[in-house]
Amino acid sequence: MRTAPVDDVPDDTPTAFPDDTAAEELAAPPVPRETPVPRTPERFPRPTETRIMTIANQKGGVGKTTTAVNLASALSAAGLKVLVLDLDPQGNASTALGIDHHSGVPGMYEVLVEGKRLAEVVQQCEEAPDLWCAPATVDLAGAEIELVSMVARESRLQRAVAKYFKGLAQAGERRVDYVLIDCPPSLGLLTINAFVAAPEVLIPIQCEYYALEGLSQLLSNIELIQEHLNPDLAVTTILLTMYDGRTRLAAQVVDEVRHHFGDQVLRSLVPRSVRISEAPSHGQTVMAYDPLSSGALAYLEAAREMAQRGVQETSVPAGDADVGSPPAAADPWARWTDGRVTRRGIASKEGEA
Ligand SMILES: Nc1ncnc2c1ncn2[C@@H]1O[C@H](COP(=O)(O)OP(=O)(O)OP(=O)(O)O)[C@@H](O)[C@H]1O
Ligand SMILES: [Mg+2]
Repeated sequence: MRTAPVDDVPDDTPTAFPDDTAAEELAAPPVPRETPVPRTPERFPRPTETRIMTIANQKGGVGKTTTAVNLASALSAAGLKVLVLDLDPQGNASTALGIDHHSGVPGMYEVLVEGKRLAEVVQQCEEAPDLWCAPATVDLAGAEIELVSMVARESRLQRAVAKYFKGLAQAGERRVDYVLIDCPPSLGLLTINAFVAAPEVLIPIQCEYYALEGLSQLLSNIELIQEHLNPDLAVTTILLTMYDGRTRLAAQVVDEVRHHFGDQVLRSLVPRSVRISEAPSHGQTVMAYDPLSSGALAYLEAAREMAQRGVQETSVPAGDADVGSPPAAADPWARWTDGRVTRRGIASKEGEA
């Protein structure tokens, strides 16, 4: 890893959400709410068309679920209609959104394996005005194996989502603005279904050294899906999570990720925060549990950035002249990514411009 001094980190690197762990631990716990998150006075712009984003990273515990539910809650609180698809048999997103997902509750297993309509399994979340979730039960663990022998095994989610949208349109119901798909920590058929269903990938990266190590495998898989199953797939958004301002390593990871992924990386970064980790045990996102905590404010800012990008352009903003050029061999980033990364995410194939 590059050993740049912390001072090398650009001034604007962290959007000034310092690590708040110590302060939060000293503070009195917030009173958990049972009422919905108050609608923020601010309204985020609606994307020109539904944005479907897969939140993926095969490394476990990097903040995929936390990111999915908090962005979803923030977007919904700002007036957008949001659907979370829980594709992880652990069902953590369903838990955090306060959605019933005990065995027997129809969820993503029934959709993917039994062909049930998404509309039949989607539940409305209490904490935000137009926030919906298709839950995952433990049954979904079996889907990974059962899907192997099924027809169109990689595109079953895509079809289910398309049918759902059609049904909403026919019923004259409001269009969904954002679909966020929470993936399990693996690159199996569940995650592949998400990559086929969504044009956009959001990768949460934990501000720790090891969090970067599996990235080349993730990017290789995305490239394979692009080539064979979904040419529109692109890594459009990277969110740095669990930033601990006290460590030099966290600042170095931020620096490296920003250097190599450029505008794909959201300016806001999410601090390590006790409130964020407490919220799921109350069946809430941190947006509802403690909306003024630094973690909630960071996710709100990240959601705002995403929403603003959604109306500008879906892909990475212009200006990245090095698209298609792999990083120089001496570049330390190549260590993690095998030289496959450009500022747009993935280097083009050899011989291609
Ligand atoms: N910014 C944060 N500060 C403190 N704790 C966090 C933060 N983000 C996530 N956590 C906690 O870290 C743990 C892992 O987070 P999360 O479940 O979101 O990761 P994940 O990538 O979805 O994990 P998995 O791969 O198992 O699905 C959880 O206990 C969560 O509450
Ligand atoms: Mg998870």
